[in-house]
Amino acid sequence: MTTARLPSMQTAANAIQKQMGPEPTENIAEPKWSATRQMKALRWHGKADVRLDTVPAPEVTEDEDVILRITGTTICGSDLHLYQSEIVGLQKGDILGHEFMGIIDAVGPKVKNRKVGDRVVVSFQIACGKCEYCQKKLSSFCDRTNDSSLMQKLYGQRDAGFFGYSHFTGGYAGGQAEYVRVPYGDVNTLPIPEKLCDEDVLFLSDVLPTSYHCVVDTGVEDGDVVAVWGLGPIGLCALKWAKLKGAKRVIGIDRVPARLEKARDLCGAETINFDEVSDIPKKLLEMTNGRGVDVALDCGTFHEPKGMLHKAQKLLMLETDSPETVNECIKSVRKMGRVGVIAAYSLMCNQFLIGPLMEKGVRFIGNGQAPVHKYWEEILGRIQDGSFSAQFMVSHRVPIDDFPALYKAFQARVAGVEKVFVETQFSSPPGKGYPQMTRVADWPTK
Ligand SMILES: NC(=O)c1ccc[n+]([C@@H]2O[C@H](COP(=O)([O-])OP(=O)(O)OC[C@H]3O[C@@H](n4cnc5c(N)ncnc54)[C@H](O)[C@@H]3O)[C@@H](O)[C@H]2O)c1
Ligand SMILES: [Zn+2]
Ligand SMILES: [Zn+2]
Repeated sequence: MTTARLPSMQTAANAIQKQMGPEPTENIAEPKWSATRQMKALRWHGKADVRLDTVPAPEVTEDEDVILRITGTTICGSDLHLYQSEIVGLQKGDILGHEFMGIIDAVGPKVKNRKVGDRVVVSFQIACGKCEYCQKKLSSFCDRTNDSSLMQKLYGQRDAGFFGYSHFTGGYAGGQAEYVRVPYGDVNTLPIPEKLCDEDVLFLSDVLPTSYHCVVDTGVEDGDVVAVWGLGPIGLCALKWAKLKGAKRVIGIDRVPARLEKARDLCGAETINFDEVSDIPKKLLEMTNGRGVDVALDCGTFHEPKGMLHKAQKLLMLETDSPETVNECIKSVRKMGRVGVIAAYSLMCNQFLIGPLMEKGVRFIGNGQAPVHKYWEEILGRIQDGSFSAQFMVSHRVPIDDFPALYKAFQARVAGVEKVFVETQFSSPPGKGYPQMTRVADWPTK
């Protein structure tokens, strides 16, 4: 793989990683590639340059692997950080995608509880199933599947390996493709009951456990007032989970009209458009009679600073991330209120409000990458008993060929795009009540 002509941050990060050498892991990240079977896959080629390429399909590489024929895949807000080249460790040719499901096509000799033909959802993280964290189902924190010495150096610890999320999280090929290799197949797949359609369950891979984790880990109690920054799929679901956990009021903050409308109409939220209201903490204080909200959840995105100060600092590489949203959260919560950060951040920011955090006794909680394994069975139960459905957020269905155009449209947040079901040659027809296929080229551009 070449890194020539890549953005300098990626080139430097990859060079440092190479020089430090890998951290030890229990398994191999790079799959064996088939000499005979080809597949379509979405690959990163550079900043804002992703392409649908035809490449070899993966094969069983280690004894505990399963190979999946993908029947449903999607794009996540986190993919936009890769698209924008804001996460280090990307290499030209990396296959992206960490939220997907399918049918088992092959199993390694040591796979015990899955067989060819099983229909499963895959967690976005690759857990070994045995380490201290995996034993507690804290799968995203698995100690044994990510070889990034760069993450070890910068963070002091390493996350688990993630599918399709750069070499900073292990360099595993992702699931925006027709086939994928899933290491530790018994551990990282969840069998799905026949009566549920793919759209019902695909988001157990990431968005549903992530939004649930954000609410549970930060702690929402009966009667709380909860404010959510960012009304993408994560924020919208967080509004719903907060209500299910007893919040008496939920307030959503964003600027995208279709998302604000969804929050009001489908999630029972009050909303604030940050294009119309410049001082969000002031507005939230007004809305709560000066008390502040009990819980603030950051479900936004670190690479879209609002103000000139952070636009400039980011541009000059004086900071990698903007602190604007977390600062608004800190100012908006009541004394001893809770702030949960589920939005992804990369490294560091300036002007962080450490004083108010300390003086107000704010409980500031980094939620981490969500441990999918801890929640996915419980949420599947809720989908089955009807107490939660992802249907409200699925806005479109497109073919895999449209992936590059989808990245562009998802980034521009046009046509009311929220969560998208991306079909492959192996997909079933749309489930009842879910969108029919459209082509991104036919979507309105606003
Ligand atoms: N921790 C995890 O396990 C995990 C997993 C999945 C996604 N994420 C992260 O969660 C976040 C949300 O994901 P998503 O798929 O909903 O993303 P998305 O990109 O679809 O939505 C983000 C929303 O935030 C809004 N926004 C931007 N700046 C804002 C601001 N200053 N105030 C309020 N809103 C603002 C945008 O308009 C957008 O609607 C992303 O940062 C993503 O990386 C984390
Ligand atoms: Zn994601
Ligand atoms: Zn583990």
